[in-house]
Order: sequence, then structure tokens, then C-alpha cells
Amino acid sequence: MKTIAVLTSGGDSPGMNPAIRGVVRTAVAAGMEVIGVRRGYAGLIEGDLIELRTTWVSGIIREGGTKLLTARSEEFKTPAGQRKGAETLKARGVEGLVVIGGNGSAHGAYCLHQKFGIATVLVPSSIDNDLAGTDVSIGFQTAVNTAVEAIDKIRDTAVSHDRVFVVEVMGREAGFLALEVALAGGAEHVLIPEIPFSLTKIGIAIKEGHERGKVSSIIVVAEGAAKGIAVAAEIEAITGADTRATVLGHVQRGGSPCATDRILGVRLGAAAVELLAKGQNGMVGIKGSEVVVSPIETVWRKKKTIDKDLYELARTLSQ
Ligand code: F6P
Repeated sequence: MKTIAVLTSGGDSPGMNPAIRGVVRTAVAAGMEVIGVRRGYAGLIEGDLIELRTTWVSGIIREGGTKLLTARSEEFKTPAGQRKGAETLKARGVEGLVVIGGNGSAHGAYCLHQKFGIATVLVPSSIDNDLAGTDVSIGFQTAVNTAVEAIDKIRDTAVSHDRVFVVEVMGREAGFLALEVALAGGAEHVLIPEIPFSLTKIGIAIKEGHERGKVSSIIVVAEGAAKGIAVAAEIEAITGADTRATVLGHVQRGGSPCATDRILGVRLGAAAVELLAKGQNGMVGIKGSEVVVSPIETVWRKKKTIDKDLYELARTLSQ
């Protein structure tokens, strides 16, 4: 394979830049030409391409966001949009494509291969960590750290005022982010979409805790489970305790990638190029400490399951 392209797509996540670095430097070392596609599939449709040399990735390992820029493209979901994208690659002589992104991006990569014969490799990158086929996605660890830092600060004010705080975190329809944030932040309760919960029971537990002398409570809510503001209103009504809601939002997507995400990014970026060099497709991921390859369809055919033991541990530790 002589020429490959790389793009980042969907919601950005900290670690996308290290992944780009892994792709570019591995490919150049193997004698390949690397084309960067700016603004994800939207840029692919429009032919927004740049040649990437090793110097282009200098220093980006520590930068948040994505230097290639990203987008959510509605047009690329249509057969006409996918055809335009494939034509851009073929016209430029691109034989293989690395897509760094999450769920939505996986489907686009699959279509480019299935319908137009372009070798594609997905590098899982999402703060939601909801992609089957990998233990962890690029950006997840940094997002956990960012949210935990925020919770530590919220705890200071919660204790000072003897208040209940409800902290809503991202994660789309999954609770992976919320669960790890709750565990690391020492939250009293965590609400995730995968496990049913009762606000009445939580409210009673908080009331009892405060009667025992507890001076603050934090409830972490996954955005896919409930709206933080609505939970806060209900908890206040049940407990009578002064309750506030904080929605962390997009702050969780930003910031310099932590060391774990940098290493994951460069490893999976390099693995993607190695797969393309062998003429193969798929999704690269990490299982334990090993890089593994699975079919891209794994992303939507298999649902990643929450670790129930981790959830139980969070419950036990919060009592
Ligand atoms: O998939 C990443 C994510 O940050 C989700 O956690 C969140 O629901 C969504 O993207 C937000 O998307 P947008 O940036 O388009 O508002």
C-alpha cells in the first residue's frame, strides 16, 4: 500500500492527536504517503485534503481536540454522500483509510469498505467508552480525570454548605463514564442507564446519611439515565436538603490527553497502519494490554456491557 489517508470524525476526544501522530509517523517510516482529511466525512465529501509529513504532527501529542478537525456529517449517512467520499479517495490514489472516531464513524468506515472496496481501519476514540471490541476507547481516561477533578472541587463546596450535589456527566446512552467517575470521585450514588434506580430510595438513603451526621452527598448521573436538574429537584423534594445540580457538559471532551490516552492513541494509530499494510480491514482495540483486531461491525452488532462488579463496588463503598 503506497498511499493512505486519515481522518477524525464525530465528537472529538483527548487522544485523537496522539493517534494521528501514531498513524503518520508509522506510515512514513514504512515508506507510505499520508493524506489528512480535514473535518471528518464532511471534508471527505468536499475533498478537503492535506499532505501530512512527520513535522506536521510535531508537538501534537500533548494537545487536546484534533488538529485534523472533526464534524458530524449528515450527508455522509446517505449513499450519495458516501459515493462522493469514496470518489475523493480514489481520485487522490488513496488505497487505505484510517478513521479515528466512535460509533457513528464506524458505520461510515464500514460503508466505504463494503460498497466501494476501500480498505478501512477504525481507531476507537470516544469519551463514552461504549464501543464493543475494545476495553477502553481513546479519550475516556482523560474525560474521567477531568470529571473527577470537577467533583473534587464540588465536594469542597458541598461539605462547606452541607449540601447535596447532583453532577451530570456525558456518555450518551451508556454509563461507563459515570460509573468510573463515581468510583474515583467517591460519590454516594450513581445513576446509569444500564441499571434501574429509585430516586425515592436514594432520597431516603441521603436523609438517613445526613441524620447520621453526613455533611455532603454527591450523586453522579449519566446523561443517558436522567437529567441532572430534574434529579436535583426530586431529591430536594424528598429530602428537604439544599440540593444543587451541575452539568459538566463539553468540558469533559477537552484538555491535554493524559499519559494513558497518549500511549493508547499512538499504539492504536500505529496498529491501524500495520493492519492496512497487510491489506486488512477492521477495528483495532485493546484487551488487557494487547492490541486486538475485530470486524468493524462488532461496534453495532455487540453491545458493550457494563461491569456489574464495579457498580456493586461503588454501592458498597458509598455506604
Ligand atoms: O459521543 C461523545 C459525546 O460527548 C457524548 O458524550 C455526548 O452525548 C455527545 O457527544 C455530545 O455531542 P455534541 O458535541 O454534538 O453536542
